[in-house]
Amino acid sequence: MPYLSPSLNVMIAAAKKAGRGLIRDFGELENLQISKKGPADFVSTADSRTERILVEELTRARPGYGFLLEEAGTIEGRDKTHRFIIDPIDGTTNFLHGIPQFSISIALEREGHLVSALVFNPVTDELYVAEKGHGAYLNDRRLRVAARKHLSDILVASGAPFMGKGGRKEFLSELDGIIGSTAGMRRFGSAALDLAWTAAGRFDAFWERNLKPWDVAAGILLVREAGGVVTDLNGRDSMLARGHILAGNEILHPLLLEMLRSRTAEE
Ligand code: IPD
Ligand code: CA
Ligand code: CA
Repeated sequence: MPYLSPSLNVMIAAAKKAGRGLIRDFGELENLQISKKGPADFVSTADSRTERILVEELTRARPGYGFLLEEAGTIEGRDKTHRFIIDPIDGTTNFLHGIPQFSISIALEREGHLVSALVFNPVTDELYVAEKGHGAYLNDRRLRVAARKHLSDILVASGAPFMGKGGRKEFLSELDGIIGSTAGMRRFGSAALDLAWTAAGRFDAFWERNLKPWDVAAGILLVREAGGVVTDLNGRDSMLARGHILAGNEILHPLLLEMLRSRTAEE
């Protein structure tokens, strides 16, 4: 059984409550796909409502903690040592298209360090949690990153830039390196779940550029607590500040870092 700190229990209760609303919204979306106006407004309402529920629930249990939120931005707390980092729906484009690959992502920082993490896909009911020093779990199962050692055997996940997002040239050059030396790549559309799936050993590795703190904060702790290595694309720890990330086991990580760096010169 996972060790769940009181804060992680609070995060789980909030995510389950918000998740019930998201499942209802997801069901409703099926009817909207075919409407003229399309489901975009509906989805942005679902996004904000989900975030509001999470903030309400977490604030009730942990008054004074601060927040970094995708939708509402920063909420300063009286308690300067704790902050929740939240993406209410990671994988919005999937959600909008009725694809059940999206998640609620919540991380808790204490004095700037990630201490508790949750990634929850309400449709599949897969709940990924990690507590610093206590391992990562998928529901009740302890997670370990995959043990594969050779690039030729591995499956790598990433996110491709889309219209209006930078980093196309770098991505295409890195992608060329990955598809030329590994068993394959996947782009499933939720960075938080990509990291959770890397923690679970489904993916051997994950890299992506230009992500936001709420896309990756929870996933970083999940991978680390599953025995994996996570850095930015310079091998440093500035994933939240710079948005670039590489995760994998301790053998693959340096191999991939070298390969990706040979493709684009990081300053
Ligand atoms: C997106 C997802 C996606 C990644 C994008 C993110 P959103 O978050 O994490 O996998 O490739 O860069 O913006 O918009 O669905 O919360
Ligand atoms: Ca996101
Ligand atoms: Ca989002």
